[in-house]
Amino acid sequence: MDKKNTTLGEFIIENQSSFQYSSGELSKLINAIRLAAKVVNHEVNKAGLIDILGGVGDTNIQGEDQQKLDVLANDKFIQTLKNREIVCGIASEEEDDFISVNSNDEKHQNKYIVLIDPLDGSSNIDVNVSVGTIFSIYRRVTDIGTPVTLKDFLQPGINQVAAGYIVYGTSTMLVYTTGDGVNGFTLNPAIGTFYLSHPNMEFPETGTIYSVNEGNYIHFPQGVKDYIKYCQREEEDRPYTSRYIGSLVSDFHRNMIKGGIYLYPKSSVASNGKLRLLYECNPMAFLAEQANGKASNGYKRILEIQPTELHERVPFFCGSRKMVEKAEEFMAAQA
Ligand code: AHG
Ligand code: MN
Ligand code: MN
Repeated sequence: MDKKNTTLGEFIIENQSSFQYSSGELSKLINAIRLAAKVVNHEVNKAGLIDILGGVGDTNIQGEDQQKLDVLANDKFIQTLKNREIVCGIASEEEDDFISVNSNDEKHQNKYIVLIDPLDGSSNIDVNVSVGTIFSIYRRVTDIGTPVTLKDFLQPGINQVAAGYIVYGTSTMLVYTTGDGVNGFTLNPAIGTFYLSHPNMEFPETGTIYSVNEGNYIHFPQGVKDYIKYCQREEEDRPYTSRYIGSLVSDFHRNMIKGGIYLYPKSSVASNGKLRLLYECNPMAFLAEQANGKASNGYKRILEIQPTELHERVPFFCGSRKMVEKAEEFMAAQA
């Protein structure tokens, strides 16, 4: 079969047997995410019609209160995962605490937990710029059939079984890994089907794009300032091009295709930067490594950090391997 005609549904089934300990559960879980992605995509696409359809605080034609899109995306993903009874726990950037699913049901044998950033780059919604969803899947570490505990969620990223994102852009794509490379699927909105459009995605070894919120320059550590000056110097393939959308998913996606580095460093006003280790950095780091790229906190591998709390933040340097290594050299020089 022509690979490009492969649908995500077919791909999931074809690859099921390659998962370690495969029981079909992970396939069902990814299928549920695929479904939620389509629902959220539909909502995101309507964002520009908010004045016509009603905004936050209004009541829509079905008598439902209109919600902010990040709340709505959160609800849709949680509902879909709960209804299909395929996870034992969910943690979301939008929720203070983790959610235990069917914790009182002794027959409940699900072994996976999911962590999500339901709407990433949400400040871009109002201005018609790409946003995304990020997800991360682990096997629970506590006993099956018992309620999940915080321990199940505070696992280092290296334990991830699968991770991915959806980018709601000029077209909607779902990109994910189960630890065997990264594949990208593009939604045909007319028929609501994702097709394999980007098999085996890989970061170029190096690139010419750097992505950082340079407005924060004054607050950055000296190593980051030096690296940014290096990017801007006229030498060899530099100065690099600066590209920053403000949606991690979209900045990552572009850099993976074209070659580049994304930085969200710590600063004198945010001691661990802004991005969340569990909902943003770990899944993106897993994808980056699976796509031949690299992800670090400036000094060490993101995937090896032992989390201590659900919503912890971490500095993030991610992208083409050689570029991240170069940024780490500048950090080490100032350490
Ligand atoms: P979220 O919308 O989930 O809160 O995430 C926004 C994140 C990330 O997507 C983006 O790269 C970064 O915040 C932008 O932050 P600044 O506006 O500080 O640059
Ligand atoms: Mn986010
Ligand atoms: Mn978010």
